Amino acid sequence: MINTIIANFKMNKTESEVKDYLMTFLPRYEGKVDLTLCLPFTALHVGRYLCQGHDIRLGAQNISDEEEGRCTGEISGRMLKDSGVDFVIVGHSERRKKFKEDSKIINKKIKSALKNGIGVILCVGESLAERNTLKTFETLRDQLESALKGLYENELERIVVAYEPIWAIGTGKTPTAKEIGQAVKEIRRVIADDFSKNASENIKVVYGGSIDSKNVKQFTGCKNLDGFLIGGACLEPNNFLKIISLC
Ligand code: 13P
Repeated sequence: MINTIIANFKMNKTESEVKDYLMTFLPRYEGKVDLTLCLPFTALHVGRYLCQGHDIRLGAQNISDEEEGRCTGEISGRMLKDSGVDFVIVGHSERRKKFKEDSKIINKKIKSALKNGIGVILCVGESLAERNTLKTFETLRDQLESALKGLYENELERIVVAYEPIWAIGTGKTPTAKEIGQAVKEIRRVIADDFSKNASENIKVVYGGSIDSKNVKQFTGCKNLDGFLIGGACLEPNNFLKIISLC
């Protein structure tokens, strides 16, 4: 059942633009879903301030894999926690590719987030080449197993898995609802194999990649899916409100 919506602002909007956004969005948001707004670091402060009193979670888009010290330009889990962050996105394909984040780094980032009391939105998904060579499930299994290595089952309660096929991100292309359902089933199978049936049923799984107000209805019927991770279509508040109202 769809009840989780996560907005990934990516590298969009200054602090004052996020302020304007929230001034439009918040009075009209009816609070019908579990909503997380993953803002740029520079807008976390204003997000925290304006979202006070609203049932909305604050998210960041990155976390250092180190705890403290000589890491110029990085932001630690402790810093994020102190800024009021509830969730952080880890393993996004844009970071895997452009910033060469491998499975070891992703695993360390997840552990650092959890250690600091921050939930994780773990992105996994296949490239077009992997899809075309029927390696989607293999890719999902590899990415999940390496990311979740060494975690305790109870820590999965603080993890949301986001199925984001790389070829669907920002392209206007999406898998079919059936294909999303199959991928989500596979994600839950990996969790069942490595943790337990109970964990596989309880873990939240969302879909991300070119969701907008025109296509979201096609996917709201996916039975094993908990929600959506939305990029471009969250950036205009009324458009984002429309998507939420359709869920
Ligand atoms: P789009 O919704 O812009 O395709 O982005 C999806 C995404 O990468 C969210 O993390």
